[in-house]
Amino acid sequence: MVVSAAAGPVGMVVVQLAKADGLRVIGIASGWEKCAFVVDELGADACIDRNAEDVGAALDRLCPAGVDIYFDNVGGAVQRPIFDRLKPFGRLIVCGMAASYSGGDDTTLPTGIILGKRLRIEGFVVLDYDSEYPAFRTEVARLWREGGIRYRQLVYEGLDSTPQALADCLSGRSSGGKILVQVSEDDSVTADV
Ligand SMILES: NC(=O)c1ccc[n+]([C@@H]2O[C@H](COP(=O)([O-])OP(=O)(O)OC[C@H]3O[C@@H](n4cnc5c(N)ncnc54)[C@H](OP(=O)(O)O)[C@@H]3O)[C@@H](O)[C@H]2O)c1
Repeated sequence: MVVSAAAGPVGMVVVQLAKADGLRVIGIASGWEKCAFVVDELGADACIDRNAEDVGAALDRLCPAGVDIYFDNVGGAVQRPIFDRLKPFGRLIVCGMAASYSGGDDTTLPTGIILGKRLRIEGFVVLDYDSEYPAFRTEVARLWREGGIRYRQLVYEGLDSTPQALADCLSGRSSGGKILVQVSEDDSVTADV
């Protein structure tokens, strides 16, 4: 399974749950620091630094037989080399389109590849799984207690830091984890970016 934005809040959970389920997991993130986090702390088998490496060449090295599942948090140009390497009947889970949230870099799906490889594409929206949330909490709490799941957050101080926090979140300029803005001295009051 390949996971983009693997060091972000969604990606870090997906990587760890996939590993707990026994999958071989390759993350994609920007920068060595996030890639080290994805491998050393989240337990991915490898992480491709999308700023420093050619994603296609890295996948050829890491997954010579191809990719079964792509958990897509970003869309954009990163998608194409993964499409090219999905196996027949491979699956694409579309969770987000972070590459286009600041405009541009929209994705055109390669219909010829989808047809030829009989790919399965499904949008994932967490709200559809509300009824499974209690079971998810129980399972993640168990993994947390057993040390099987890790978490990182990056706190920006003060409401004035919100634009910077949002810009860093969307551009990927952070060390990974969930970005929060602390708007009060009271530790329990934060704004989720
Ligand atoms: N469907 C749902 O129910 C649901 C729920 C929550 C969130 N989401 C979506 O899931 C995705 C991940 O959410 P998150 O909160 O965990 O976000 P996030 O990882 O904190 O932020 C987005 C990340 O996308 C990567 N990125 C940005 N531009 C990119 C580009 N041009 N090419 C490749 N990668 C790029 C960056 O990571 P790197 O620089 O490290 O690559 C950036 O940090 C978002 O798209 C979000 O909207 C969906």
